[in-house]
Amino acid sequence: MRMSLENIKVGMSVGQDLYTESGQLIILNNTVVTPEILARLKRFKINAVEINDSAPEADLFDIKGTPAFHSFKSEAVEAKESLSASLDSILQQSSDTVHIDIINNLSTLLYESNKSNLHLIDMVYSMHEYSDAIYTHSVNVGMIASHLGRWLGLSDDDIKLLVTCGLFHDIGKLLIPKEILTKSGDLTAEERKLLRSHPQKGFELLDQFEDIDPRVKQVALLHHERCDGSGYPLHFEGKNVDIYSKIIAIADVYEAMTAERAYREPICPFAVVAYFEKEGVHKFETQYVLKFINKILDSYLHSKVLLSNGQEATVILIHKNMKSRPLVKLSDGGFLDLAVNLDVEILRMVS
Ligand SMILES: [Fe+2]
Repeated sequence: MRMSLENIKVGMSVGQDLYTESGQLIILNNTVVTPEILARLKRFKINAVEINDSAPEADLFDIKGTPAFHSFKSEAVEAKESLSASLDSILQQSSDTVHIDIINNLSTLLYESNKSNLHLIDMVYSMHEYSDAIYTHSVNVGMIASHLGRWLGLSDDDIKLLVTCGLFHDIGKLLIPKEILTKSGDLTAEERKLLRSHPQKGFELLDQFEDIDPRVKQVALLHHERCDGSGYPLHFEGKNVDIYSKIIAIADVYEAMTAERAYREPICPFAVVAYFEKEGVHKFETQYVLKFINKILDSYLHSKVLLSNGQEATVILIHKNMKSRPLVKLSDGGFLDLAVNLDVEILRMVS
């Protein structure tokens, strides 16, 4: 049966070899549609495709038996330890409980084989295959969100759910062409519009599976909404956004700013806190963002920093009303209050 692109769903089976106009083979007959295949069809502007009538949805999960999947699984298990450790170095504190949250959650996804988990495993694998950056970002967001959830006193079940929400919040990016995801220069208006469609696309992708928790789907849709209504795609105000989406929004922004990227150095945590202090009150849930800032900065008390005047210093006191500009002790024994000396900034942490 010939089917237009908008009706083709993950799990269907392509019923023809597909070629570009120049004769390059792009998809083989009987290929199972994955998010990456959908993205490829869009990239090559293929509007309609022959689909096998009895689309074997179970084939979607046959990747579990492939050598590539086994190697991904062992990599993911190794990565759990190093990612947990890397978050610790960001937060400069150890939290065994959070490590257990992450390990349990990923292990459940990777080792248990109930039907719901198979859907999720397939998507985590697709994410890893499509973009290592999205995969790493998503795992980190899940970890940061679980920290914040614990700091806010949420239940163990809610914290586990936050890890899953973090893992899948950006799943819609698998349906965005890689050239846009990795473009280092400014995006065109058209490209920006496409990128901003990832929450809707992610929701639609997850919504194909009845057994995925509706709150995970909701976070995929709402994690770019902001409390002042300035977010997207629905421009919801805070009262219409659930707590999980609000927590993932904070973790998402923090991870995106502090993680090292190919095209820039990681942004100093004090600069990120300055951003949250300036914008956070309006854009994010105030109570959550304040808890987050306080906990993050607690972990940087007594840390060494490099100042913009070239001096090294130690953070001595975090001011209540200007948390991003602490009192520091200079290496020559003097003190400098950054809340008063606004021309000096913290450039980076010194390990
Ligand atoms: Fe996103």
